[in-house]
Amino acid sequence: MSKLTLRDLDVSNKKVIVRVDFNVPIKNGVITDDNRIVQALPTINYLLEKKAKLIIMSHLGKVDHKDPEKTASDKAKNNMAPVATRLGELVDAPVTFVSETRGPALEAAVNALQGGDIVVVQNTRYEKGESKNDPELAAYWASLGEVFVFDAFGSSHRAHATTHGIAEILPSGLGFLVEKEVVALEKAILNPAKPFVAIVGGAKVSDKIAVIENLLNIADKVLIGGGMAYTFLKALGFNIGSSLLEADKVELAKEFLDKSNGKLVLPVDHIVADAFSVDANTKVVGNEGIEEGWMGLDIGPETVKLFSSVLDGAKTVVWNGPMGVFELAPFANGTLEVCKAIAAQKGAMTVIGGGDSAAAAIQLGFKDEFSHISTGGGASLEFMEGKVLPGIAVIKERA
Ligand code: 3PG
Repeated sequence: MSKLTLRDLDVSNKKVIVRVDFNVPIKNGVITDDNRIVQALPTINYLLEKKAKLIIMSHLGKVDHKDPEKTASDKAKNNMAPVATRLGELVDAPVTFVSETRGPALEAAVNALQGGDIVVVQNTRYEKGESKNDPELAAYWASLGEVFVFDAFGSSHRAHATTHGIAEILPSGLGFLVEKEVVALEKAILNPAKPFVAIVGGAKVSDKIAVIENLLNIADKVLIGGGMAYTFLKALGFNIGSSLLEADKVELAKEFLDKSNGKLVLPVDHIVADAFSVDANTKVVGNEGIEEGWMGLDIGPETVKLFSSVLDGAKTVVWNGPMGVFELAPFANGTLEVCKAIAAQKGAMTVIGGGDSAAAAIQLGFKDEFSHISTGGGASLEFMEGKVLPGIAVIKERA
């Protein structure tokens, strides 16, 4: 990793703006998963030890700026106050929450900071200019601090004022979470030990076109599961009943199959159901056996065996997207078994892309069984697609 990190910056007693990704799920004002906050603690605690004055910024959810009523309800829903409270419980430092994104109250709170104190700023998306990387807004926020640390891996695919604009102005470096993510993803995607097996799942081919394209170039095998597998099976001429189909992607699936040179591995059997429901009737059928009125909601036992045998002996495994509707118990087994098969590759570099597959791996009890579980959804997907992540690209290389 050749980028400057916070170890390269003089942060002692300085006002340090830290961009984190505290975009955590909140239900009825209660945080249901604080993993992203916990993952930022190494950076925050390092800065606290250095007696830095921390100004913490993050977005939370989306804020519409077109319709004033929607703006008001989005702001109410995505208030950072519960996040600041949770951070206060996790650190040994005073945490002040400022419910503004600019103005005298924020400036006064920043000016009152002592070394080792924290100010958490209101959701940066309250400002219309945040997502537009507005230069005036970036300059204003930069004026509040002396140094900038980027530790928001989950937002690194966004070129926003807090993920890009401020870094162009202040001396900047990556935080420990982003460093850890980049080291793991670079090892798996840019420099993979072979054999390299990738597993791609999830509902839609359309979400994964670029990632499949890139993985076909760099992996030895690409296993396909989840709802997207049915568009591929349709391309091979199978009847897929009422399984998920993206009709406009069948031609593309054919192209992928044609140029894959046997690298693409599709399911050979399925758990099919007569309804998308936990109470549905289910049965196991092969590719030839999906009847009208039935839909594939998980990979079947023969597919688990096939995928496990392909995974056996892999030195690098990258996984993005569940194998079935794992949120519903009758259709969670394929994802669970794939988790087990990946975890069994001791000594391999095993990386779980964020979003649904990370949630599945953690929910199914595999939190500590992989080399790396990314905190980024869209960001890790874009890394796996081979794209440049603007939040990281803007940070200078170490001289
Ligand atoms: C995420 O949850 O993937 C990140 O926080 C980015 O959120 P966004 O898609 O709203 O930019």
